[in-house]
Amino acid sequence: MAGFRICGGEKIEGTLRVDTAKNAVLPILAASVLPQEDTVLTDCPRLGDVECMRGILRMLGCESCWEGDALRICGGALSQGEMPEELSKRVRSSIFLLGPVLGRLRMATMAYPGGCEIGLRPIDLHLSALKRMGVRISEEGGMLRCDGRDMHAADIHLDYPSVGATENIIMAAALLPGRTTISNAAREPEIEDLQRYINAMGGHVQGAGSPLIVIEGVSRLHGVTYQPMPDRIATGTYLCAAAITGGQIELTNARPRDLTAVLDKLRAMGCVIAEGEQVLYLSAPERLQSFDALQTQPHPGFPTDMQSQMLALACVCRGASVIEEKVFENRFAIAGDLCRMGANIRVTGRAALIQGVERLHGAHVAAHDLRGGAALVLAALAASGETLVEDVHLIDRGYERMEEKLTALGAKIARV
Ligand code: EPZ
Repeated sequence: MAGFRICGGEKIEGTLRVDTAKNAVLPILAASVLPQEDTVLTDCPRLGDVECMRGILRMLGCESCWEGDALRICGGALSQGEMPEELSKRVRSSIFLLGPVLGRLRMATMAYPGGCEIGLRPIDLHLSALKRMGVRISEEGGMLRCDGRDMHAADIHLDYPSVGATENIIMAAALLPGRTTISNAAREPEIEDLQRYINAMGGHVQGAGSPLIVIEGVSRLHGVTYQPMPDRIATGTYLCAAAITGGQIELTNARPRDLTAVLDKLRAMGCVIAEGEQVLYLSAPERLQSFDALQTQPHPGFPTDMQSQMLALACVCRGASVIEEKVFENRFAIAGDLCRMGANIRVTGRAALIQGVERLHGAHVAAHDLRGGAALVLAALAASGETLVEDVHLIDRGYERMEEKLTALGAKIARV
């Protein structure tokens, strides 16, 4: 497996354009099976997860092809709703296809998606919502068989504001006659982007970004050319790269309003941040100050996908910090690797107590998950000496050519 070799100690300085958001593109790719015609996603990122989703769409009869930086999906060609077991187990995003395939074909079969390094990733909220909509679901040998021939609009309350469940219900209801409502819906910006995409195809979705979403089903959706939103987590990750190395960075194609909780913490740590309509500028102090305490929550709270990156920053700041991971049950996997780099971290259950140290030193570490891998790269940028981060294919799932971007910003990093 590929790795990154990083020589730490260089300041991150320069300008970077933020890529389109992975977590907006994945549900939008799933929703592309709803219209009878092609859709084109402009400036689509070339990510591992995007390629996996293309593989599943292909199995369902929907070819897709690159047209420069745009991806064309032939969603109208959807011919069957059986998702292959090996693929749907391997790719968690396959769960996003349950709603739209049911919405289009009223039948869907997929394997129970596996858990991953950050938690069990149950789908009970997805399934109970679909059952509320009249879908009959049977489980045979790890396969979910969904019969939606009697599907109907419904009022759904989510016990927890699950991002994926909210997106699945929107996509299942987009072509369903009547009015479906979701209360206690997730409020992530990617859900507003999915709403914009479906409405651009002729759908009627309202309320995304608030806890109450209303979907008026329509009889058909037409194709569209659509530019998904910029990646707020990639934005936060590259801000942290400048912050941890005492550097400065300008990010274009950014949307500051998507990551106010992150900007708030970085300012508390001593970073000077200027915000424009589509630009962010951060200048870091020589050494960061502790943010004291941080708790991850559903949006607009602090995003769990930025927790690992803040853990890395806490390792080298002045003072002690506490991080509580309230969204996933196992998202401190990299604490061990960071300690091997000289960090002082104590994890008890869903909380981590970090005592900042002057300097980390290089070590041989490995990514366990996408965001944890990115956080290890951040730590390596600030560490003295050389670090080898293994299993960077996990990083490639959500960050396009990270090593090239960081090299252009002054880092000494190479893919090996
Ligand atoms: C989305 O995952 C993101 N993935 C995750 O990003 C992100 O961490 C997460 O939302 C939270 O913001 C994509 O958008 C592709 P959830 P999702 O359903 O939809 C529990 C990354 O690094 N839950 O909001 O799976 C679940 O176990 C990834 O880009 C249930 O209990 O997140 C978790 O504890 C990682 N039952 C919590 O809710 C369910 O049926 C949040 O899950 C569904 C979820």
